[in-house]
Amino acid sequence: MRKFLIAGNWKMFHTPKEAAEYGRKLAHKNPDQYDIDVLLCPPALSLPALRETLRHTKVAVGGQNIHQEPKGAFTGEMSAEMYKDAGASYVLVGHSERRQYFGETDELVRSKTIRALEAGLTPLVCIGETLDERKNNQTSNVILTQLNGAFKHFSKSDMSKIVIAYEPVWAIGTGKTATPEQAQELHLLIRRTIELEFDAALANDMRILYGGSVKVENARDLLSRPDIDGALIGGASLKVDDFHKIIEIAHQL
Ligand code: 13P
Repeated sequence: MRKFLIAGNWKMFHTPKEAAEYGRKLAHKNPDQYDIDVLLCPPALSLPALRETLRHTKVAVGGQNIHQEPKGAFTGEMSAEMYKDAGASYVLVGHSERRQYFGETDELVRSKTIRALEAGLTPLVCIGETLDERKNNQTSNVILTQLNGAFKHFSKSDMSKIVIAYEPVWAIGTGKTATPEQAQELHLLIRRTIELEFDAALANDMRILYGGSVKVENARDLLSRPDIDGALIGGASLKVDDFHKIIEIAHQL
């Protein structure tokens, strides 16, 4: 049985002070009463404050990006080890905003995923097609290329430590959610691909999250689909009440 993972990606929102306030409010709601995994990925500078306020809960914190090298002269960058040391247990890799605005390729996504695994972080690897790609019936090709690029020559043991997030780029921050049917179809494609490249047991255990305009209103419908194992939430994770409601919905399913 795959356990739901409800994850928030704060992007470049919430200062350390705001993160601490959020963490206190979330801790007050006793998130450990729910039988699901919960993760928040704040900006790096806000991570220690959030982690501190959530230290008595099982809510995990994670980074939004790492450098592919363990250390070095890379001004402005942060390593997987630094996140690990600061208490992170996950890191997002290959978010579409990184691919779009920072030129991240599948090859780089692969390197960063390896780096995260080496440092003992769970990589949450993001894939998804753009609107043009969908309109041109390229969705499956894009997904297969991104999967093959990111996980080329990975062992089953490495794959078992990874979480995948399917985030159609056209649904991110636009208010346009993929329909539950569209999302389910792609999640199944991803699971079948993992089964073909690795094996059925691994594919069956792999958590595949959906991301792209997930809100309180649509969470139940999306999370009820058989191959959707959680959500990666941007905008709606910024408000603690909304995020908490989505956690409750997942718990009820
Ligand atoms: P929104 O939920 O704001 O559409 O963002 C989704 C996302 O990019 C999560 O990583």
